[in-house]
Amino acid sequence: MKLEQNVPLADYTTFKIGGPARYFCIARSGAEVVEALSFAHKDNRRALVIGGGSNVLISDAGFSGVVIKNEIMGKALVPMGGGDYRLTAGAGESWDEVVQMAVENDLHGIENLSAIPGTIGAAPVQNIGAYGVEIANSVITVRAVDTKTLQYVKFSGKECKFGYRDSIFKHKKGRYIILQVDLRLKKKGKVNIEYKDLKDYFAKANISKPTIQQVRDAVIDIRWHKLPDWKLWGTAGSFFKNPVISKSRFDKLKAQYPALPGFPEPGGKRVKVSLGWILDNICHVKGTMVNNVGSYERQALVIIAKQPGATAAQVVARTKEIAELVEKMTTIKIEAEVEWVN
Ligand code: EPU
Repeated sequence: MKLEQNVPLADYTTFKIGGPARYFCIARSGAEVVEALSFAHKDNRRALVIGGGSNVLISDAGFSGVVIKNEIMGKALVPMGGGDYRLTAGAGESWDEVVQMAVENDLHGIENLSAIPGTIGAAPVQNIGAYGVEIANSVITVRAVDTKTLQYVKFSGKECKFGYRDSIFKHKKGRYIILQVDLRLKKKGKVNIEYKDLKDYFAKANISKPTIQQVRDAVIDIRWHKLPDWKLWGTAGSFFKNPVISKSRFDKLKAQYPALPGFPEPGGKRVKVSLGWILDNICHVKGTMVNNVGSYERQALVIIAKQPGATAAQVVARTKEIAELVEKMTTIKIEAEVEWVN
């Protein structure tokens, strides 16, 4: 394993922002991850793992520890009996190529998660979700290295403690580096097109029973229209999480803004509200650009940074202003979905 010094991180993130890593290496196996961690321990430095760099904002000063770019590859499909298959992938595999492999083999479960950038190793950390499906629904096992003990550890889906954009890997930030993910995929599953955008898409196309491939194609099409050209803009997609608020608070807001979309959480006591709608219709920031940082004109929750030019400081300043505006207009405190690294 080659350890490099002062490597600019901007090229390794989809925001295309960020100063250098004091140390940087590419790990192609669990053993190489352990080797990099041993170096970090000895040198008393923090370690940071990156996959596709699609959910991080790295400070302009960079990272003073050891950045480990996870490139553990390999994917395989193994029958599990009862028609289900186990898909095993190294953490460095592209998430969308994993989805494509499932769809090509006519296996259900993750087609709604098509075209999400990043690696499969990063997917369980924030429990990626879209169009009514989360990776939590399919995870059998996550294998990782404990950065404290340097031991290999294994988590069942339940032990991952998944929630909305949440998991044990977020609760214990930095503690585990994911090496491999096993998913259960179904041969005889049912497509899920309940999410409004998908339902509308197939109604318009006059297709009542889409195939898995058609669902994948539809999701790619819908996402493509909501995301900016990655060559012109730095972005990490949705910058904030959709806030989950009490039902009574939601009812008050809904009385004021009857079109506000809300989705009751299981149990019915809390409601997830669409921050994109709030930014668009209450805060009116959609399509605006301040100091190189904008809210995308087709999806307000997507924060874009002008390239070249935008700095991490500008993104932090503008997103802070946006969060303050949301709080002023709705009293809701919002949280970033993107991970801040400094
Ligand atoms: N909306 C507006 N204006 C906007 C944006 C949204 O009015 O500028 C409204 C939409 O019309 C819709 C509602 O807000 O009624 C929700 O919008 P959308 O369906 O685009 O989804 P979202 O809640 O903004 C979430 C995920 C996305 C995922 C989509 C689809 C979060 C933080 N984001 O976005 O996650 O693709 O749902 O399921 O939960 C991603 O952003 O990269 C991502 C994978």
